[in-house]
Amino acid sequence: MKVSVSRKAHFNAAHRLHNARWDDKKNQEVFGLCNNPHFHGHNYELIITVQGPIDEHTGMVIDLKKLSDLIEEKICRRYDHKNLNMELPEFNTTIPTAENIALEIWKIMRGELDVTLDLKVVLYETPRNFVEVSSS
Ligand code: NI
Repeated sequence: MKVSVSRKAHFNAAHRLHNARWDDKKNQEVFGLCNNPHFHGHNYELIITVQGPIDEHTGMVIDLKKLSDLIEEKICRRYDHKNLNMELPEFNTTIPTAENIALEIWKIMRGELDVTLDLKVVLYETPRNFVEVSSS
C-alpha cells in the first residue's frame, strides 16, 4: 500500500517567455502577454507530493517537517523574488514556462529524496493554470 503526503509552498518570481530563435512577431503570437520584454511576475503555488509506504517505526511516509524544510531551502530560497531568466542558470537557454519550472523543481527534489519514494510536483502559475510533473 502506498500513501501520499503533500506539502504546499509559495514563491513569487518574474519571467519572460521568449524563444531567441524566433522573431518578435512569432514570439508575440505564441507567448502573448508572457512575452513582455520588461518581464512580469507570477505568484506561484507549489504542491510537492511524496508517495511511498508508511514506515513501520515512525508511522510516516516522510517527516513533513523535513519535507517542508527541504522545499524551503532548495526551492523557495532559490526561486522566490528572482528573475528566472536572468538569475537562474537553468533558465539561461530553457524557456521558464510553468512546465519547465515544475520540471526543474522535480529534478531538484528528486535528488533530495530517498529512492524508494515517488515524487509529484504540481505548480500553479495562476489560480486556474497549473502543470504536473511525475515520473510515472
Ligand atoms: Ni507569465
